[in-house]
Formats: sequence, structure tokens, C-alpha cells
Amino acid sequence: MFEFVYELFDLKMLLVTAFLGAIYVYSTWTHSHWSKLGISSPSAPVPLFGHAMPSMLGQMHFMDVLHNLYKELGDQRFGGIYTMRTPQLLVKDPELIGHILIKDFNNFTDRGLYAGTHTNPLNNNIFFTRGERWKTMRQKLSPTFTANKLKYMNEQVKECSDGLLSTIGKNLDDDAGRIEIREMMAKYSTDVIGSCAFGLKLDAINDPDSEFRKHGKTVFQPSLRSKIRVAVIFMQPSLLSIFRVHHYSHRTIRFFHDAFQQTIEYREKHNEDRKDFVQHLMKAREDLVLNPNLKPEEKFTEMDIVANAYILFIAGFETVSTSMSFCMYELALRKDVQDKVRKEILEVKSKYNGQMNSECLNELHYMGMVIKETLRKYPPLVTLNRVVTKPYVIPGTQIKLKIGTKIVVPVHAIHYDPKYYSDPEAFEPDRFSDENIHNIQPNTYMPFGDGPRFCIGKRFAEFEMKMALSEVLTNYEVMACDKTQIPIKYVIGSFVNIPESVWLKFRKVNT
Ligand code: HEM
Repeated sequence: MFEFVYELFDLKMLLVTAFLGAIYVYSTWTHSHWSKLGISSPSAPVPLFGHAMPSMLGQMHFMDVLHNLYKELGDQRFGGIYTMRTPQLLVKDPELIGHILIKDFNNFTDRGLYAGTHTNPLNNNIFFTRGERWKTMRQKLSPTFTANKLKYMNEQVKECSDGLLSTIGKNLDDDAGRIEIREMMAKYSTDVIGSCAFGLKLDAINDPDSEFRKHGKTVFQPSLRSKIRVAVIFMQPSLLSIFRVHHYSHRTIRFFHDAFQQTIEYREKHNEDRKDFVQHLMKAREDLVLNPNLKPEEKFTEMDIVANAYILFIAGFETVSTSMSFCMYELALRKDVQDKVRKEILEVKSKYNGQMNSECLNELHYMGMVIKETLRKYPPLVTLNRVVTKPYVIPGTQIKLKIGTKIVVPVHAIHYDPKYYSDPEAFEPDRFSDENIHNIQPNTYMPFGDGPRFCIGKRFAEFEMKMALSEVLTNYEVMACDKTQIPIKYVIGSFVNIPESVWLKFRKVNT
């Protein structure tokens, strides 16, 4: 009898040991990828987690983890890291970065990020698409963002910045002029992008129940579900396809689909032509969806067009609103810089009869330097991602990278490397003055990425930020208050660099 129990116990132990052994082998199976190629890693990867354990467990922001790995690599040009089971090449050397993003772009045309487009049709957009389909869509959308086109959006953006001003005015008496600006700026940029990408007057800034704001918010707010999804992407992405895991709820998909569809119908019915994003997307629809002369493989779907309207909205609102929040935070701490920006705004405004538009915004050189320095310290995307799309030999080595190898460019860590930026924690817009800008080494400043896949909305983002900043700073002085978090704390688990909150005090100025 005892012998039987004993044997059963042994069998259980055996099964448990075999199971744990299998998990160990599975979770470390890929962890010799880099050593086999003769590429060193910063430290030994932890089973299952690789180098990402502190961020996956929510103990550290992903950007700090990368920062540490970047430092551990010392003088090496690149190193092999593992995010969970996924090997990624962390590239430090600016020259090699230039090859990957620009000179040898044909070997790295895609980001290689998991999109799961069968279950997530909204991901069929220019950010995630690959190869020829990306090229086609990029060509269709690029003209939207030329300097000439921006001037047609003046009125739309100006209207939204007026809304921003009146919101600040209304809040001035509440809470002694203290305002949490991250949420306020998110609503402003939701209004701008809603107006330009969907042709809708959203008024999110005054509407606490704005559906656009609600749906936009869910994309960037980390949740247990999104954290598990990210872990699975880096562990075994095929599981997401097998179990048809959705990134977005059906409600979200339907919401954006209907919003865009209604706009198209309205414009077609009223023959309205506003020269904004919507108009370009409608042209893309005409050429790529409705065009009967295209071969089936060249055709896009109605949903692909909605997906691109959606990405312009998503890529546009959080990046701009967090950048403006960081910028105003730094200006609140540096009164000298704030005063100089205000002086410049007033000079330019007086030259143009008190009006601001996309042309006179170009004359705000110092504000341009302030925005550049903000994006150095706080790049919304802390990495750039590429994947090898044609086999590639790393210049100066015999190392051959196979198709599918994932590349990470640690933008944030490079922006804080004292080799490229002395006293990197200091906010010094003068780094970008005409006299100093030549000291910045190529491929060490990349808040908008670089090469053919760089941010398509850069010009629009700068326009929108300058417009809002010039209106706010003409009317208000911003200061730190007892609620201001110094230094700023970041939301851990979000793939965009988001502050937890930015409280500032506003005081009316007489200009
Ligand atoms: C401060 C504001 C912004 C920052 C810092 C920013 C940054 C970036 C970065 C780093 C990338 C990846 C580039 C690369 O991989 O080389 C990107 C891509 C992109 N951004 Fe932005 N962005 C901003 C605003 C906007 C706006 C306002 C829009 C649209 C209205 C936009 C639309 C896009 C799109 C569509 C892509 C994908 C481009 C492609 O793959 O061809 N972004 N952005």
C-alpha cells in the first residue's frame, strides 16, 4: 500500500519536474540567439523575461530598463537583448543607426511590430503596414502634410486653441488657478485632430463625456489586459492570432468606422472640399478602394481607409498633448526661458497685426528651440523599431542579420548620453541655436524618427504645438505650484512616454 502511494508521489514529482523543465527550456530556448552570432549581451537574460523583467513586473519604466542596458553595453556599437523570448538588436552607434534608418533603408523597410490585422482591422494602417502597401499609402498621405496644405487648416487649429484659452479662463478662479494640464492638452489635441482627420467639431475641451476622448484614452492607458497582451507578443505572438485576441473592443472599431463614414457621406452629399486629412483619405479611397482598374492584390478596403484615419487620430493626439505638457512644465520651472518665448511671440504677433497663422509661426525661432529641447528630454516614443526585411551584413563586421531580426534604436537613452549632450538632465534650448546646432552629431536626435519612415505628422505637430503655446503664453504665465510633481513621474506600462500628471498654476498676464 505504502509502496503504491510512494510510486504515485514519485510519478507526480516526475511530472512536475518534467513540466517545470519544459517551461524552463521553452522560456530560455531563444536566449542563445545572440551568442551564436557572436554578439554580446549586456547581462545574462532571465528565463522567460529576458532583459525585460523589471518593466514586465511593473517595477520600472521600459525606458529606464533600456537606459540601463544601453549603459551596460559601454563602448560597444550594438548588443543583443531579449524582451521576454524575443531577441532584439540594441543599436547604439549613430553611424550604424544612420545606415539602418536612412542609407540601407531597403533592408529595413518595416517596423516588425505585431499587428494581428485579422482580428484587429484598425491596425491595417500606415504605422503597422509593410513593404509595398506601406509605400502606396505613404505616397497618398504625404501631400496632406506639406507646408502649403497646413495653411488651409489654420482656421480649424485656431478655433481649437481659442477653446483651450477659454477653458483656462473658466478654470482660473477654481482651485487658485491650478490646472492639471495633461488632460486639458489631451482634449485640445483631440479637438484639433478630430477636426482635421475626421472633419468634426468635437469640443472635447468642454465635454467631459466626449466619446472621442474616451476611446482615445483607452489606447494609451495601461491595463492588466494590455500588459498580458504585450507579454504574449514578446513570448509567443502566434497565441494572439490563435485565440483571436482583440486590441480594441468592437465598440471602438464601430465608433471610428461610423465617425469616418458619416464624415465622408456628409462631404460627398454637400460637395464640401476642406483640404484637410479627410480630403486626402477620401482621395486615397477613390484611388485605392473604388478604382475598378486595380488588380485584387493592389486593392485596399474601406476598413483600411478608416484604419488610416484612426492612426492619424491616435498618433496625433497623445504625442502632441504630452509634448505640450512637458514643454509647459519646463517653462514653469524656467521663468527666464518662458519670458524669452513670450517676448518673441509678442514681437511676431505685432508684426502680423496680432494674428497667428502657419506662416508667422515659422518666425518663432526661439520657441522652435524650446520645442526641440522638450522633445530631446521627453521623446514620446522612447525607441524606434525596425526589422530586417532583406539579409544584412553589419558594416565593419562579418555578422549577417537574417530576415526577421528585430532592431531597437534607444532614442531616449541616446538623448541622455553625456557624450552627445552635456549635462543631459538640464533643459537648455540653446543647444539648438544656430551657433550650437552643428555640435549635434547626426543620428543622435530622433524624436520624430528618421529616414523614409519618419513621422509623417512632424510638421503638423509643430504647427499645432506652436499655435497653442503662442496663444496660451500671450495670455498667461505658468508656474509650478504645490501640486506639481518635481521631478515628473511617468505612467509605467504605457508604450508612449506619459506623465502621471502635470499640475501648473496659471496667472493672467497683461500684454
Ligand atoms: C510631438 C509630436 C509627435 C512625435 C514626437 C511623433 C513621433 C513619431 C515617431 C518617433 C514615429 C516613428 C518614426 C520612425 O520609426 O522613424 C512616428 C511615426 C508616425 N507618426 Fe508621429 N509623432 C508626433 C505627432 C504626429 C502627428 C500629429 C501625426 C498625425 C497627424 C503623426 C502620425 C504619425 C504616423 C502616421 C507615423 C507612421 C509613419 C510611417 O510609418 O510611415 N505623428 N511619429
